[in-house]
Amino acid sequence: MSTYKFAIPEIIFGRGSLDFVGVCSRRLGASKIFVVSDPGVEEAGWVDKVFAILRQEGLDFVYFNDVVANPRDYQVERGAALYRETGADVVLALGGGSPMDAAKGIALVVSNGGRIQDYAGANQVKNPLPPMVFIPSTMGSESNISQFTVITDMERHIKMTIISRTLVPNISITDPLLLGTLTRELIIAPLFDSLAHAVESYVSPIANPFTEVQSLKGLDLLIRHIRPALETLDMDDLEQLAIAGTSSGMAFTNASVGLGHALAHALGGMFDVVHGISHALLLPSVMRYNLPACTKKMATIGRIITGQEHTTEEATALAGIEALERLRDDIGIPTRLREILPDKTLLPKVSQNAEKDICLLTNPRTATWKDILNIYYGAW
Ligand SMILES: [Fe+2]
Repeated sequence: MSTYKFAIPEIIFGRGSLDFVGVCSRRLGASKIFVVSDPGVEEAGWVDKVFAILRQEGLDFVYFNDVVANPRDYQVERGAALYRETGADVVLALGGGSPMDAAKGIALVVSNGGRIQDYAGANQVKNPLPPMVFIPSTMGSESNISQFTVITDMERHIKMTIISRTLVPNISITDPLLLGTLTRELIIAPLFDSLAHAVESYVSPIANPFTEVQSLKGLDLLIRHIRPALETLDMDDLEQLAIAGTSSGMAFTNASVGLGHALAHALGGMFDVVHGISHALLLPSVMRYNLPACTKKMATIGRIITGQEHTTEEATALAGIEALERLRDDIGIPTRLREILPDKTLLPKVSQNAEKDICLLTNPRTATWKDILNIYYGAW
């Protein structure tokens, strides 16, 4: 039997759990908290709410909000400079994947020195990071659970994936009430990121019994609650989606992701394509490509998505992929790459970048840059 590992943060989950942010920060020894968020989360009122809780707890803090979607290397450097200047000692991230990934980048640079580029790849981090409390305001990235951060290198136009156990936050506080202030549009794209996490972690060559159960739980909850949640934005459904995201996050942080993420990172690095939109465009094509290498597992996925068994495993798997395509059409998200990227002449270059992405190492089927180009062309 192989040896397995399963690392996750302390998870606090539930409506109103945001109230624990002060106590949690204090428990980690905070005297000055470095809060990272962004203008969108400010607008929803959550930043002020966190400030009020921290004040009530008698905790000092500094605030950094210079973060955009697909957070950038220079933003990490600016944040690290402010952290050092102000003598902060705990990092608190509040928001979607972008502020959370930026916060990890800042925590990494202030504790290990150098530039964020020095840590690209797996296991390049030597020193422990400052304690981190993460509060997701949306689902999808699960950076609050994961040992990943993805930062854009603006000179090379690539998204660098950094993987290290030290990037797992100490405490993750998921309060589903935060999802209640999102519009339908803001929820859709991250849902496809979560679907990609569930599917890719399940078929990963380093999946294990502890990750597989979380992948399938996440997928099942996503399939059952996406449509009703998007129809009514009902809190019960949103809460189930938050559980689904957390499950998928627990799976992929330990089993990693694959080809779909390599393709999404390359598109995001060169064209700033929203991560979840890339998955909506590419996930079915990636599943078709991987099918011959993991037919049995893809049939399990198909069975969960459709609730049906067909005469062969391949047919069951294909029915699942087709059902995902219908879901995509029904909920109204871009379905062709050309809608996002009218010019396809740069796709060979994008494919070469994708071929270098570390996530390809954990894809069940090898893919050359030409295979990748064919997938991009197919989705175009
Ligand atoms: Fe992702």
